[in-house]
Amino acid sequence: MIRYRTFRNGDPPALVRLWNATVPERGAVRPLKVHELDDRAFNPPVFERSGLIVAEEDDRVVGFVHAGFGPGLPIDSARPLGLDREMGMIAMLAVEPGLPAELDVARALVLEGERYLRSRGAMVLYAGGQFPLNPFYWGIYGGSEGSGFLASHPMVPQVLAGMGYEPIGVTACLEYDVGAAARRDPRGVLIRRQAELEIIEDVPAAEWWSELAIGEFHLARVSLRSRADGAILARASTWDMSLFGRGDGRGRLGLLDVFVPEPHRRKGFGRHLVSEILRWAQEIGVQAVEVQTPSTNESALELYQSLGFIPVDQSVVYRLPARLLERSALP
Ligand SMILES: CC(C)(COP(=O)(O)OP(=O)(O)OC[C@H]1O[C@@H](n2cnc3c(N)ncnc32)[C@H](O)[C@@H]1OP(=O)(O)O)[C@@H](O)C(=O)NCCC(=O)NCCS
Repeated sequence: MIRYRTFRNGDPPALVRLWNATVPERGAVRPLKVHELDDRAFNPPVFERSGLIVAEEDDRVVGFVHAGFGPGLPIDSARPLGLDREMGMIAMLAVEPGLPAELDVARALVLEGERYLRSRGAMVLYAGGQFPLNPFYWGIYGGSEGSGFLASHPMVPQVLAGMGYEPIGVTACLEYDVGAAARRDPRGVLIRRQAELEIIEDVPAAEWWSELAIGEFHLARVSLRSRADGAILARASTWDMSLFGRGDGRGRLGLLDVFVPEPHRRKGFGRHLVSEILRWAQEIGVQAVEVQTPSTNESALELYQSLGFIPVDQSVVYRLPARLLERSALP
């Protein structure tokens, strides 16, 4: 008989075992260690033990669901943390593969997660984290941006879809193989005359919420500045995703927040910046560069694919339609 209960301090080793048996090998850190799960799942300031519900059969942990909330906006280090309890999210779901009632346990766990969120006031329920509704697991799951559940995650997308969750945002996950021959940057010579590249390593994240998730992974800020007036022509951040290469031994760099100010677009600055980052990645001995962008962002997809990035997965954020909210209403 399966019993559902809230998290206890002795659970992490069993939860790591489930993580390592269920998360995809690509796009998540695997094998994960207990202290790493501890940092990303139980240490965040928004952790509540009642949001992490464990399924147990004869004292053996066979599944868990982890639900939570994001910060109230704006994220400001001068203000105390306030949670936005209107919107709740299911951040992770794992059930022991091969368990006879695997799918039933997964569905029961999702319902337990929904009940917790509703009991805390949530009026809109999501599944899959996306900034800023991403309190847990960014840095160990979901690639460079950690947006949503990976399409390749065994069982999870099917269970969510079967329970009525609807995809509301699809993000393309792309990877660049640093060993592949570099594509030509047609405007590179000209741009080097106009602009200089600046790489500042070990910078803090843009705000403390991201700092908690990926701050320890050697964030770098890369900018292309006009030689004439110092204006930023393009910028991006990178972080060291080498934990993601634990399974296949390929060191990875995550690319984030690629941005070209509006007046400077379509002049080749975006491509030049990213191709310089790829060159830098090679210099520092990284084997792959990962980036994510909404599947609707055609300009970014064109840009990355023109440089040789290839799509390797998708991540999906789901929302529960309002008509299904009542199934987890409290008695
Ligand atoms: C995406 C972005 C970084 C592109 O920067 P950019 O400097 O304008 O791009 P480039 O001039 O270097 O263009 C390189 C290639 O990208 C593609 N591209 C760029 N903008 C495009 C657009 N609006 N439509 C279609 N393709 C586009 C083209 O293939 C282009 O090659 P081409 O000029 O030879 O046709 C910029 O539009 C931007 O900052 N957008 C908002 C933020 C964003 O979406 N960032 C990506 C998040 S991961």
